[in-house]
Amino acid sequence: MRNSLIIKAAFSEKTERPPVWMMRQAGRFMKEYWEIKNKYSFLEMCKTPEIAADVTMLPVDLLGIDAAILFSDILVTAEAMGGDLSFNQGVGPLFANPVRTNADIDRLEINVMDKLQYVDDAIKVIQQRLNGSIPLIGFAGAPFTVMSYLVEGGSSKDFKLTKLMLHNEPEMAHKLLSKIASVTADYLNLQIAAGVNAIQIFDSWAQALAWDDYKEFSHRYITEIIAKLQRKDIPVISFCKGSSVFAPLMAEAKPDVISIDWNVDLLDIKKRLPSNIAVQGNLDPHILYADKKVIKQRIYALFDRMKGENGFIFNLGHGIMPDIPFDNVKYAVDIIKEYHY
Ligand code: CP3
Repeated sequence: MRNSLIIKAAFSEKTERPPVWMMRQAGRFMKEYWEIKNKYSFLEMCKTPEIAADVTMLPVDLLGIDAAILFSDILVTAEAMGGDLSFNQGVGPLFANPVRTNADIDRLEINVMDKLQYVDDAIKVIQQRLNGSIPLIGFAGAPFTVMSYLVEGGSSKDFKLTKLMLHNEPEMAHKLLSKIASVTADYLNLQIAAGVNAIQIFDSWAQALAWDDYKEFSHRYITEIIAKLQRKDIPVISFCKGSSVFAPLMAEAKPDVISIDWNVDLLDIKKRLPSNIAVQGNLDPHILYADKKVIKQRIYALFDRMKGENGFIFNLGHGIMPDIPFDNVKYAVDIIKEYHY
């Protein structure tokens, strides 16, 4: 795996073309996903290793992507800690027992790896199926993003309760974040021990934070987690929406790759980062709704811009939307594989 395109690019080594994978590549934009989804709940899919492996393999088999990503969710750690989690069509994730007081935080468990054994099993089944062909990316949510779901009780537009806890009850917020960070580090080490080839940390909603709050309540815990990972040839990708602002700080946490949103010129941000940090990104996922000639033009323009830079992985700035035409995604992967620097 060390010589695969993605791992080489992640360690800032030269590749003959940009490698490609896409966030949310195993999901509702594929009719094959629905054929499985119609039979099971989302959590059943995550918790049944054979099914998680079937779904993980869909974009590998149907798109010919350069990396697989474990089929799971960033909220499985919060569930293992005691969150009463359900996923409801059209509503998204819900916690029936939101965490809002010191007593709620005290009730959360941190020795929970036995409850996440199904992830260990899923990784082993997936690696058997991949059979050395491409790397498998494992992942977890960053503590701030996971905390926001626990505190709000689900998705949120403004993160009002979460930010109120950071601002009015910082000690309480730190107690919660420390617990989540400890579980997250154990969980990523479980994935590494089970055999993943790379790790991505998703801080999807860090964009909601002011610079100082990002530093105190998010960056600090990501730094702690990365430092605890037992890895040698396993690159760490750090993702957040807002990375076009936070990238210089994110770099200080010592990831190998920073995943960049689409608000910024990728080359410009790459040049402002230490040269041993690779970048991943940064196509606006809405481009995949557009005509094929626009898709090709925008992707090749990005590649031409990044020509000569080692350490570039193509991805979207955020996940694929469920109603993006499959054909367009397949087309994007095909033309990416035709490109040569
Ligand atoms: O990328 C992949 O294909 C791998 C699987 C994956 C899922 N979730 C599957 C999923 C990954 C890497 C995630 C991460 C995740 N989960 C994030 C971070 C990435 C991001 O988008 O910023 C977040 C914030 C979540 C939390 C979450 N899970 C939300 C908000 C939702 C509901 C919204 C939605 O898109 O449906 C989920 C559910 C979820 N996670 C689905 C899938 C395939 C949809 C389940 C269904 O079919 O109903």
